[in-house]
Amino acid sequence: MPNLDKIIKIAKEAGEIMLSASHIETSVDSKEGYQNFVTEYDRRIQEFLFEELKKAEPEAHFLGEEEGAEQFLPEYEKGILFVIDPIDGTSNFIEGYNLSVVSIGILKDGKPFQGVVYNPYARECFSAEAGKGAFCNGKRIQSSDKSLMDSLAIIGTSPYYKELEDEVFRIGRYYFDRCIDLRRSGSAAWDLCCLASGRAGLYFELRLGFWDYAAGALILSEAGGVCTDIEGQEISYRGPSSMLAVSRGIKDSDYFPNLPA
Ligand code: IPD
Ligand code: CA
Ligand code: CA
Repeated sequence: MPNLDKIIKIAKEAGEIMLSASHIETSVDSKEGYQNFVTEYDRRIQEFLFEELKKAEPEAHFLGEEEGAEQFLPEYEKGILFVIDPIDGTSNFIEGYNLSVVSIGILKDGKPFQGVVYNPYARECFSAEAGKGAFCNGKRIQSSDKSLMDSLAIIGTSPYYKELEDEVFRIGRYYFDRCIDLRRSGSAAWDLCCLASGRAGLYFELRLGFWDYAAGALILSEAGGVCTDIEGQEISYRGPSSMLAVSRGIKDSDYFPNLPA
């Protein structure tokens, strides 16, 4: 059984690699999709995480963004599966925006079990285990009980999928009129942790990779929030998904966009 403290320690070490980065621009390669890049550090951190987590959990399966394979295989239904985003917020990382995280989601027998999201710039580590609550730097956290009108809402732009652009801004406009103001961080895992810690009330994105939400969605659920896809269906934890995440205080009637096409 993975030891959460051990995983937190490994995530923090990976965060140090992020902070130590220099000359990032010389190692930037393109990936599939619009303005989708990968750096030597994404690969290096993923390698580090795979190695260290394997030492801790030799039998475990691994899915990592920089491996490319996002398919949930039948063998992942049993035992431990690590779902890893070595740098969530790669554009921020490349541009020196100082907001990127290490995200480690852990499934046990196919169900969300543990999650760790570490932001090395803020030195904030979010963690959760199913049924045991959510924590930031060891302190219990809860999502906010405010209404949407009294909350910040976070828009995720699914930047690599240009075809979603009109719908993203249509829904964004809908929420903009119903909250204090919109935010856009550039890291989906961080966005989910911001909801978990009561900093914002709602977050949506029309397409996320499995590694973008595997840790953050559990952390938010353990903080009393609700994560569904954009249609209000349960999150699959089996691969890419849209996301509509809300804090404790927000009721269905406040937040479903129900927009005319
Ligand atoms: C991206 C970030 C971003 C979100 C994208 C993700 P990456 O991950 O989480 O906030 O809008 O959908 O793909 O590429 O920086 O790991
Ligand atoms: Ca990501
Ligand atoms: Ca990434």
